[in-house]
Amino acid sequence: MKKIYIIALCLFGINAFAQKKIVVDVPNKVSEIQPTMWGVFFEDINMGADGGIYAELIKNRSFEFAKPLMGWNIEYPAEAKKEVIVKLRHEGEILVQNRMDKTSANPRYLTVTVNNTQKGELGLSNEGFKGMGFKSGLRYDFSVLARVITGSVKMHIELLNAKKEVIGSTLVTPNTKEWSKIESSFNALASEPKGTFRIWFEGTGVVDLDMISLFPSDTWKGRKGGMRADMIQLLADMKPGFVRFPGGCIVEGFDLNNRYQWKKTLGPIEERQLIMNRWNIEFTHRPAPDYFQTFGLGFFEYFQLCDDIGAAPLPILNCGMACQFNSAEVVPLDQLQPYIDDALDLIEFANGDVSTKWGKTRADMGHPAPFNLTMMGIGNENWGPQYVERLKIFTKAIKAKYPTMKIVNSSGIDPESRIFQHLNTELRAMNADIIDEHYYNKPEWFLKNASRYDSYDRNGSKVFAGEYAAQSVQTVSPNNKNTWQCAMSEAAFMTGLERNAAVVSMASYAPLFAHADGWQWTPDLIWVDNLRSYGTPNYYVQKLYSNNKGTHVLPITESGSTIAGKDSLYAAAAWDKNANEVIIKVVNVSEKAQNHELSLAGVKKLDPKAKTFVMQKDNLNEVNSFENATNVSPAEQDITVDVKKKTINLSLPAKSFIVYRVKVLDK
Ligand code: AHR
Repeated sequence: MKKIYIIALCLFGINAFAQKKIVVDVPNKVSEIQPTMWGVFFEDINMGADGGIYAELIKNRSFEFAKPLMGWNIEYPAEAKKEVIVKLRHEGEILVQNRMDKTSANPRYLTVTVNNTQKGELGLSNEGFKGMGFKSGLRYDFSVLARVITGSVKMHIELLNAKKEVIGSTLVTPNTKEWSKIESSFNALASEPKGTFRIWFEGTGVVDLDMISLFPSDTWKGRKGGMRADMIQLLADMKPGFVRFPGGCIVEGFDLNNRYQWKKTLGPIEERQLIMNRWNIEFTHRPAPDYFQTFGLGFFEYFQLCDDIGAAPLPILNCGMACQFNSAEVVPLDQLQPYIDDALDLIEFANGDVSTKWGKTRADMGHPAPFNLTMMGIGNENWGPQYVERLKIFTKAIKAKYPTMKIVNSSGIDPESRIFQHLNTELRAMNADIIDEHYYNKPEWFLKNASRYDSYDRNGSKVFAGEYAAQSVQTVSPNNKNTWQCAMSEAAFMTGLERNAAVVSMASYAPLFAHADGWQWTPDLIWVDNLRSYGTPNYYVQKLYSNNKGTHVLPITESGSTIAGKDSLYAAAAWDKNANEVIIKVVNVSEKAQNHELSLAGVKKLDPKAKTFVMQKDNLNEVNSFENATNVSPAEQDITVDVKKKTINLSLPAKSFIVYRVKVLDK
């Protein structure tokens, strides 16, 4: 009885599918896989930049938010009554001044007046971006632009824990009549995930303050005023082929005034004019009234990041149209030139000799060597005849001056819509270099579309799968989760992208980052709080693809057909010419385990030892979390190759994604 049960289990439980003979035709290099194939999409959404990778801890450091003191609190002795605030504000002890005739980029500053004031009587505190993360023993760099009007005012700088206890402090005293930067570094004496910052003023006098700033010292590459190292490390670990920046809808803006203008993101940070982040007002169910773009992280820093992590830069520029979900403003064609100039000047900024205007700007910011820009996007999710007519003007101007620059073109928002069909046909007729397709859809859509590109013209425009993510509930639902089901369906879909690398030259999941207390959009690839960060199951899928990219597509077939959904199986194979390895990716989305034989045809000698990276979960709803960051992540395992038969056994658990790496020794 027991024996019969075991046989039945083998037949129906462990391998409910007939054993297949799967073949990888190793000598047959079908097409190249571009080094840019797997990249990342960055946008300042979900507190991705301000409050995210940009490590500034002070919110509204320049008092330029719509409400000048948003994020700040005026501090007074605990025993004082509420009326004290009114007194302080109205009698001018803390006064917001506006010098817009002198500078439109950063007009506001504070004037603080004290009169025989003791420490603890008048202060300012800042709540940070959903609190501030402090690490015990770490150095924090405080700075402020200040000038003394009269007298002498001491500033007691303090880090506070959630109980409002002081866990770090320093003292600075402004002492110049002209604006100057005062800096002081000091250590936090305890860790705190939800800290705040406070200044007590002491003395008699009047002082002006602006750009009140606090950075941790453990930034990426230790750069002062830099980026959060843990978040960038997660990106670097992916070895992305490119970084798309700065978005996303943020490129378009709510209206044209709110569009992303890269030239305003360069130079000294106090001269970078902030604007409202368009995600501030997008979702009524996720309001973010304190979400602004300070541009402390600007285009120079994005290019530098690409350089740091070996990724090709892919900036996306506004095409003269605001977000078509919002104001849908367009700039009249006879006023498009400044937008075109932005594109041409950006190429000079990235690649130009230091003797050129914009090349010199780059050099002055610290990077005389070019950033090697080879591609740029014109428009994000734009469509319609207005887009096409603007795009044609951009394309003509860019190609006339920079014939080899590749242009990424938008194909709208929904690759199954009539808008897409129409636009895609037009763009292909224009011989568009690269067409950007976006898909936010249910996991089933991803499985169904694993063959999407099998029939695309190999000689036509290339495809950039520029934004995609499986949605566990539905697009923009706040209940979407980064489940294993979503990640696994993306892994299955990506076999189709890789198999069609002749057509698909780039792909990126979106959005990239989300702060647990400050997000607007879910799902997202990487989640963070003030001190911690973790990759989702989707992150590990992306990372496995990117770290196991290969250089050429190899045919992987079963009975001569591609493996794209039959019996719930999806597969792709690649050759890595640098490692002499065959890389096989197999996804089994079925409820049952499967066992198949894979033969590596056309090779003489194989290394008997091979490696696999296995992602598997029985429960499709499993997720990662701060507490269990690698719950769904790859496990590395060794397998044995049958060197005589030149086969490996594909032992595929139910609901699994496995990457195999087999070394060829006869090359
Ligand atoms: O990734 C989030 C948003 O989705 C992007 O900003 C936009 O391009 C798309 O609609």
